[in-house]
Amino acid sequence: MCGIVGYIGERQAAPIILDGLSKLEYRGYDSAGMAVCDGNRIRIKKAAGRLKVLENLTHGGETMEGCSGIGHTRWATHGAPSGVNAHPHGNSAGTIAVVHNGIIENYIHLRKKMIERGYEFVSETDTEVLAHLLDYYYKGDPLAAIIKVLHRVEGSYALGILFADHPDEIYAVRKDSPLIVGKGTDGCFIASDVPAILKYTRTVYYVENQEVARLKRDDLRFYSVDEEELEKEPVQIDWDADAAEKAGYDHFMLKEMYEQPKTVADTVSPRIQGGDLALEELKMSDGELMGIRKIYIVACGSAYHAGVTGKYVIEGLARIAVEVEVASEFRYRDPIMEEGGMVIVISQSGETADSLAALREAKARGFKVLGIVNVVGSSIAREADSVLYTWAGPEIAVATTKAYSAQLAALYLLAMKLAKVRGTIGEAEFRSLLSDLERLPDQIELLLSHKNKIQHFANRYIGARDIFFMGRGLDYAISLEGSLKLKEISYIHSEAYAAGELKHGTISLIEDGTLVVAVSTQPKLYQKTISNMVEVKARGAFVMAVTCEGNRAIEKASDYVIYIPATNPLFANSLAIIPLQLFGYYVAVGRGCDVDKPRNLAKSVTVE
Ligand code: AGP
Repeated sequence: MCGIVGYIGERQAAPIILDGLSKLEYRGYDSAGMAVCDGNRIRIKKAAGRLKVLENLTHGGETMEGCSGIGHTRWATHGAPSGVNAHPHGNSAGTIAVVHNGIIENYIHLRKKMIERGYEFVSETDTEVLAHLLDYYYKGDPLAAIIKVLHRVEGSYALGILFADHPDEIYAVRKDSPLIVGKGTDGCFIASDVPAILKYTRTVYYVENQEVARLKRDDLRFYSVDEEELEKEPVQIDWDADAAEKAGYDHFMLKEMYEQPKTVADTVSPRIQGGDLALEELKMSDGELMGIRKIYIVACGSAYHAGVTGKYVIEGLARIAVEVEVASEFRYRDPIMEEGGMVIVISQSGETADSLAALREAKARGFKVLGIVNVVGSSIAREADSVLYTWAGPEIAVATTKAYSAQLAALYLLAMKLAKVRGTIGEAEFRSLLSDLERLPDQIELLLSHKNKIQHFANRYIGARDIFFMGRGLDYAISLEGSLKLKEISYIHSEAYAAGELKHGTISLIEDGTLVVAVSTQPKLYQKTISNMVEVKARGAFVMAVTCEGNRAIEKASDYVIYIPATNPLFANSLAIIPLQLFGYYVAVGRGCDVDKPRNLAKSVTVE
């Protein structure tokens, strides 16, 4: 996700835009740019790197004169971080400039069409398509041109747009990506988020999907895509600045948990086209995918846990043997690897030292490496042979949530592609999987709405000494992640166990009242897990179960049950993790821990 700021009014626009962008750097910070209109022409300045680079380039905005402008701080999705790919993007004549937050899902098709019409592209971005489309449809009426473009593009967008021959206007458009409009005493504003303009005004309008805003110095108009003028009520913001960066959430972690429906949708939707998977970014032909004889997944921490889920899903669908290993072990054990193998390195930051070293080890042995990475242009992304990006946007909280969920979604896509190419699933099963995959965002949203119930339960365990998680198969995979979420932010000792393994030692730790979280989402294993729950209850444990709607039999072996909606068992981890994230979060909050910056931890472990 990126940050957008725009201003039109009595004051110089550039300094206001830079100030606003500085409040949005948490949304993306690999490049930045501004377009300012001085009444006659639009000037664009942009640069790779943090916002500071742009500030220095424009002497704090002083070299860009004009009272209307738009600015952008980028979190790269399409096209590596660079000056050329930075926003704003303009048409060749320099009479139109646009900044964009979101993903234009059909940009490849539109880019091809515009090139056929003689348009020349200079960047690798999806956004540049918008600048040329606006140029193509513009006949002197900005609103009419914008609406024609909206009918052509698919995907998510928040846009700020300048037209040189309308220097006293700024236009803004929204679909799925957040956008607000502010009205102050000396001008009007657009922004991706409240923090950018809180200093200038607390009177804001939330732009809804498919609404177009026209801003003048002292006049605000809103239109539908049918060019009907809309009446909108302003909202008075009463947040303080710090709360505003978290969009009103108490912590970035909670905010990012609530972004999971969107990050899963953003990771999946652009890769489903015409009812089939579009995964050209794998850079592997169907023949090469057919030829894969073994998969090695290497990662650290939560990314490793995602890999464990990936193992079960890929083996379950594509029947390819998968080995999963923590990168710090893989890199030093001189692994025995089969020819025809494929290595997958999973990493949110793309900078984890052990994972990067493991990638280099695999490549040194002649293996192709696929990266599943969140940060575009990061070291792992650059050194992998191909990358399947998780479009989760910048993740601020040290404890990963939305990036982890996006990693699971990316692994599902890969597993389905492999299975389809190798013929291990039929068309009917593929369609069913696709349908279940596309329903996950709404189901995640539903589970997040139960946060108060989970908070109430979590408050009972803020004094716990040990909390255990257990499950079988995929339920073991998600137990690993649930346990890590709890311990890394609440500092309570926790372990995850394959449920069948408890009786080989750890069960000796179970005492009266010890909380055991039993995850049971795999129908074929329901009874086995119930047996393990009975075993721990017999020794005094309090058992919290996370299971699928309809599995009532589990209630006889549980003290507290959380139900998740029905989905394909292979995708159940994406739902079971939600109550586990919320549980860990509220235990940590109840203990007064620094949830976003837990002690001893860093967001990216760039050292061994
Ligand atoms: C997870 O909540 C932790 N922040 C940590 O385990 C993290 O997943 C691990 O350090 C790997 O980071 P990466 O995904 O950026 O490589």
